[in-house]
Amino acid sequence: MIQYDLSFSKNIKSMKRSVIRELLKMTQSPEIISFAGGLPSPQSFPIEPLKQITMEVLDNNGTKALQYGSTEGLPLLADELIKLMALDNVKIAKENLVITIASQQGLDLVGKIFLNPGDIAIVESPTYVGALSAFNSYRAKLIDVELDNDGMRIDALKKTLADLKKKKKKPKFIYVIPDFHNPAGVTLSYERRKQLIEIAKKEKIMIIEDSPYRMVRFRGNTIPSLYSMDKDGLVISLFTFSKIFVPGFRLGWAIGPKEIIDKMVIAKQATDLCTPEFTQYITASFLKKDMLLKTVNHTVSIYKEKNELMLEMLEKYMPKNKGVVWTKPDGGLFLWVTLPKQYDCDKIFQKAIEKKVAYVVGSAFYVGGKKKNSFRMNFSYPSKEQIVEGVQRLAKVIDEVIK
Ligand SMILES: Cc1ncc(COP(=O)(O)O)c(C=O)c1O
Repeated sequence: MIQYDLSFSKNIKSMKRSVIRELLKMTQSPEIISFAGGLPSPQSFPIEPLKQITMEVLDNNGTKALQYGSTEGLPLLADELIKLMALDNVKIAKENLVITIASQQGLDLVGKIFLNPGDIAIVESPTYVGALSAFNSYRAKLIDVELDNDGMRIDALKKTLADLKKKKKKPKFIYVIPDFHNPAGVTLSYERRKQLIEIAKKEKIMIIEDSPYRMVRFRGNTIPSLYSMDKDGLVISLFTFSKIFVPGFRLGWAIGPKEIIDKMVIAKQATDLCTPEFTQYITASFLKKDMLLKTVNHTVSIYKEKNELMLEMLEKYMPKNKGVVWTKPDGGLFLWVTLPKQYDCDKIFQKAIEKKVAYVVGSAFYVGGKKKNSFRMNFSYPSKEQIVEGVQRLAKVIDEVIK
């Protein structure tokens, strides 16, 4: 018998199945109310306009839309993205842009172009589990820096960098999710953004700004993006259509200094040659017809209501008096619940499933799974009725567990 194991690379051996995907399998039975997924609301999908645009694309550009395209992405879509970014005070040219298979590919390409085995990357604690997988697949050493309600703690970052310096080590980049963090639901404050950029400039470290939820703001005022604040070519930003349009198209884009985008394009070429032209044509047309902002506004209004309802239910039913706290996001899809330190939400998950309600264990979002007293709740996908009933079920489980 051939022993496959002897043939596998160290890279693949270091990779594990996503904990979340495994957990999600347990939450899929119909009687379970799941706050575990990270899916957009199906009501946010613009199905009818897409039917029409898809026909138009096939009628007018069928032979091109079904053909291979360039690795950089469809120029028509790039033009629309340049206009979209300009609305957010980001001025870029085509050479600063690569259209990706959504932002998960952006994360993979960042790993591919920057990380050798053993290289250090700084991430937030907690951080997006898919970023942990992407960077781990290049066998990076991930060092996490705590966050609080204003995002990554700059004092903790400075300390981490100073400790590394003593060991003559320097991270390749600092990875942050500045807007409506997944999983924590918090937003990096303006003051901290400024400090982060100052540090990156002084220490000559790149910043990876991963911002899938940036346009999904339902409260408060926009804070400038790190990309728009940087004058020194320090920031690479990753965006996606997954949360503002449709995740099924698997479309996103990365922006950055030309030299870096060049490398990302080379890395992407080896992975998939190009992003599908078909969905790029459809999306370009959707943007050209000025339909994106209308769709986003509709999505935001749905999430605002659901978020407010979830917060109201948590306020009403969660045992606050027993030290349970949660974040109050100004946008995005998630909030983050934290129990007193001694409680293990991996274990409580089993009890929650017995009571037919599910969340994502917080440990999945930490380097090495080290903290267990938090969990993530999604409010975009469940219905309002499910939010009302599910929070009550969950609050009861937690009330019973906490002495
Ligand atoms: C912070 C963050 N980055 C990247 C992604 C990947 O999303 P996609 O590949 O659909 O763009 C997600 C998805 O939930 C996310 O939350």
